[in-house]
Amino acid sequence: MEAIDALLSRKSSAMLEFPAPSQKEIQILLQAAVRAPDHCRLRPWKFLIVKNDAREALGDVMVEALKIRDPKATDAMLEKTRGKPLRAPLIIVVIAKIKEHPKVPNVEQILSAGAATQNIMIAAHALGYAGIWRSGAPCFDEHVRVSLGATGKDQIVGFLYLGTASKKPVLPTESMDEYIDYWTGAQKK
Ligand SMILES: Cc1cc2nc3c(=O)[nH]c(=O)nc-3n(C[C@H](O)[C@H](O)[C@H](O)COP(=O)(O)O)c2cc1C
Repeated sequence: MEAIDALLSRKSSAMLEFPAPSQKEIQILLQAAVRAPDHCRLRPWKFLIVKNDAREALGDVMVEALKIRDPKATDAMLEKTRGKPLRAPLIIVVIAKIKEHPKVPNVEQILSAGAATQNIMIAAHALGYAGIWRSGAPCFDEHVRVSLGATGKDQIVGFLYLGTASKKPVLPTESMDEYIDYWTGAQKK
C-alpha cells in the first residue's frame, strides 16, 4: 500500500481475529516504530510482544491490579478484565523508557514513543492488518507497570491490539476547517 493511502485509510478496529502479523511482519512493525523522530537519539521506548498464552498471563496481571485498585471488584468485573487481552491475537505494549536528559524533557520522550506507536498502527494497516490503540486504567496502574518492567518515570503509552478486522471498518468523512487556522502574526493584547 502506498504511504499516503495507508495514512488516509487507517481506521481502528476493536473486533479482531486471527491471523495476526507473523514474526517477520512484527519485525517490520518494530522497524517502522523506531523510525519515529527522537530528540538526541535517546531511543526512549520498549516494545513488549504479547501473544499466545502470554495474553492470559497479561489478563492475570490486569486482574491482580484491579483487585489492588478496587478490593470490592465483583467476580464479573474480574472475569471481564481477565478476558481483555484475548480480544486480539497479538498485543504490542509500548513503554516510553524515560531518561533524564538536560535537553529532552520527559514529555518529548513520551511523544517519541507515541509517534513510534502510531508508526506501528499505520505499518500494520499497510500490511493488511487492523488494530486499536488502547490505554485504560492498566496503563497507569503501578502493579501493571512493575509487572511489565516499567520503572521510574517510564510510562506505558498503550496496548496495541492487533490482528485481522472481523468486519471492514467504515471511514468517517471529516471537515478539516475547525482544526486549521492561518496564523499571520501575534495577537494584540
Ligand atoms: C493514547 C490513546 C489511548 C486510547 N485508549 C483507548 C482505550 O482505552 N479504549 C478505546 O476504546 N479507545 C482508545 N483510544 C482510541 C482508539 O485508539 C481510536 O483512536 C478511536 O477508537 C477512534 O478510532 P480511529 O482511530 O479509527 O479514529 C485511545 C487512543 C489513544 C491515542
